[in-house]
Amino acid sequence: MAPAQNYRRSSDIDLLTIYEISKVLTSSLDFRQCLQTVLQLLLSQLNMRHAVVGLVQTDGQLHILGAAGVPWPMSEAPILDPRRGIISKVIRSGSPIVIPDIAADAHFTNRTGRDPEQMEGVSYLVVPLKVDREVIGILSADRHPEDEESVNFERDMRMLSLVANLLAQTFRLHQAVAADRQVLLEESARLQKQLQGQYDIENVVGRSKRMKEVFTDVHQAAPSGATVLLRGESGTGKEAIAHAIHYLSPRAKGPFVKLNCAALPETLLESELFGHERGAFTGATSERKGRFELARGGTIFLDEIGDISPAFQAKLLRVLQEQEFERVGGNKTIKTDVRLVAATNRNLEEMVQKNEFRADLYFRLNVVAIFLPALRERKDDIPLLVDFFLERFNSENRRQLTITPGAVDILMQCNWPGNVRELENCIQRAATMTRANVIREADMRCQKGQCFSSMLLETTQARACFPVAGMPSRSLTPVSRPMPTPAPSSADEEEAPQGVERRGVPVSERDRLVDAMERCGWVQAKAARLLGLTPRQIGYALRKYNIEVKQL
Ligand SMILES: Nc1ncnc2c1ncn2[C@@H]1O[C@H](COP(=O)(O)OP(=O)(O)OP(=O)(O)O)[C@@H](O)[C@H]1O
Ligand SMILES: [Mg+2]
Repeated sequence: MAPAQNYRRSSDIDLLTIYEISKVLTSSLDFRQCLQTVLQLLLSQLNMRHAVVGLVQTDGQLHILGAAGVPWPMSEAPILDPRRGIISKVIRSGSPIVIPDIAADAHFTNRTGRDPEQMEGVSYLVVPLKVDREVIGILSADRHPEDEESVNFERDMRMLSLVANLLAQTFRLHQAVAADRQVLLEESARLQKQLQGQYDIENVVGRSKRMKEVFTDVHQAAPSGATVLLRGESGTGKEAIAHAIHYLSPRAKGPFVKLNCAALPETLLESELFGHERGAFTGATSERKGRFELARGGTIFLDEIGDISPAFQAKLLRVLQEQEFERVGGNKTIKTDVRLVAATNRNLEEMVQKNEFRADLYFRLNVVAIFLPALRERKDDIPLLVDFFLERFNSENRRQLTITPGAVDILMQCNWPGNVRELENCIQRAATMTRANVIREADMRCQKGQCFSSMLLETTQARACFPVAGMPSRSLTPVSRPMPTPAPSSADEEEAPQGVERRGVPVSERDRLVDAMERCGWVQAKAARLLGLTPRQIGYALRKYNIEVKQL
């Protein structure tokens, strides 16, 4: 490069510059980056200074997209009003303008930070950037008096106009490519979503629209570390989905640790979750890691999160906020490294309103909410689920049972207040009790005293099961559900006294207890809530009938 003082530009240099610029503009799809290089080339090859490209954007302002030889970084580029100054004339007229000496021109306003001391004799050249005759912006550059022996504005303007033309064409091309890309991206996101809706999650069956949406949400949420809150009635598959989220996440190789918050009293819950030090309380004979520690590098699944006490809510909130905790009786702070998935079948929003659940904890938990539909809202999944459970039964028991369409029809008529869990139990029971190789309609009707048999005869929303004698009748309505359930028919309102046969089905208090326990996955606290009993009462009833509580 010749020193500025002795500089005399030849046509060859102009041609070479245009050639270099066109090469730069076709080298990348990053317009801003290309632009910076082009402006640098202008400065060095044509010996100009203070070159700027601005585009009028949707806000009506002129945004500087590229600049060279300016005293500010691009991040602090000024935004100019295109209706003011020389620029406004270029934009309005679409013609180039030269100001031979900016220091002597009354219309010139220095809006791009030139040193006022060095404006004497400086010429300012502005050319429009046009796309289809529409002016979209400007290219400007300064020429200093000492930069050339003889100033040739005409030649400079021709050169700048050529460059501006190239820039505008490239900009339009890049815009078209970006628009196409956006269309492609949107289309690919749409197709991906459609495909994901078809993904099967292992051990979670469903082809209904509602379940496809759930699968899509799961596939979208799983790879991130976001906290997921699973909502839905009991037995809808919240735990199954929690597993799926873990196994589809980058933490899949880490542990999946579950804790049912409703199953434990508060003190035990605390030591179960956070662990305890030796001697922390009576019986703490050795130190013990809590589930948060055991889940390190994996996922912790807190089931029945809506059932924790206000005091415990505060403790959990702290862990979620600060990502650290102490073991009970300890003072060493332990950092958490877990992904949290929580589940509840309670109406947390209502609980927040009633001040039963902390709003701040609710928001921490409710980062991604996935709603699992009740089985009665997606009955088209029933045949698929029946096949799934039957196949599993067959492979576990080396049998080859099939089910008649008539039997499936009966199952389709039920409302399944215990949702998929109840259907699963029902198939298991029918399969176990059937001596032949085919489950028929009749097999569906003779499941004595079990909850689902009462529902088979109901076409409206069924009551969970008949009331246990001596226990309050309101016990039959699940206490709270996130989704409203239709009211029982008046026929359902009557209570059947103990042992009385109802519509040909004998019902015992014991059966009703077992049914409630089954429906609640053998979690006593939940079954107690379903029956409207206290945990003590249900404990007493289970002992009374010698019902062994399955450890799940
Ligand atoms: N879509 C499904 N496909 C296959 N099995 C399912 C599906 N949904 C639920 N299940 C089965 O139903 C049973 C109950 O599901 P799960 O324990 O996940 O329900 P839940 O919503 O967590 O219930 P709860 O609120 O009572 O804890 C499990 O055995 C589970 O495997
Ligand atoms: Mg569960």
